[in-house]
Amino acid sequence: MSELSRIGVAIDSELLEKFDRLITRRGYENRSEAFRDLIRDELVEESWKSPDSVVVGTVTLVYDHHVRLLSEKLTDFEHDHHKSILSTLHVHLDHDHCLEVIVVRGRAAAVQKIADTLISTKGVKHGRLTITSAGGEI
Ligand code: NI
Repeated sequence: MSELSRIGVAIDSELLEKFDRLITRRGYENRSEAFRDLIRDELVEESWKSPDSVVVGTVTLVYDHHVRLLSEKLTDFEHDHHKSILSTLHVHLDHDHCLEVIVVRGRAAAVQKIADTLISTKGVKHGRLTITSAGGEI
């Protein structure tokens, strides 16, 4: 970690009260950690916008495994992208439904494309991509 810098921030009192209530609800013990997390979140979001930056994403899918050939189709796709897909977690939610969390690392544009393909596969009921930093810049 690099050395700490102290900064002063002028902020509207009402806005600060709202912020304090928010961070208390979220379990922060002080403003500094909350500010740091907000800044990191913005930096990760910004890097995601640059298609060449390397990011890690988790794709969460819920699907009905009775849909014909769906499990096979998803597995085939994951094998085709084995260099980008680091790990897959599978949970049998109930008699019909499966939940899968797929961890993908690569350039932002490629991760987005893999997520879009998985989420838009016919039979997938819900899907979501969460992007985080590959760790280097934050
Ligand atoms: Ni299952």
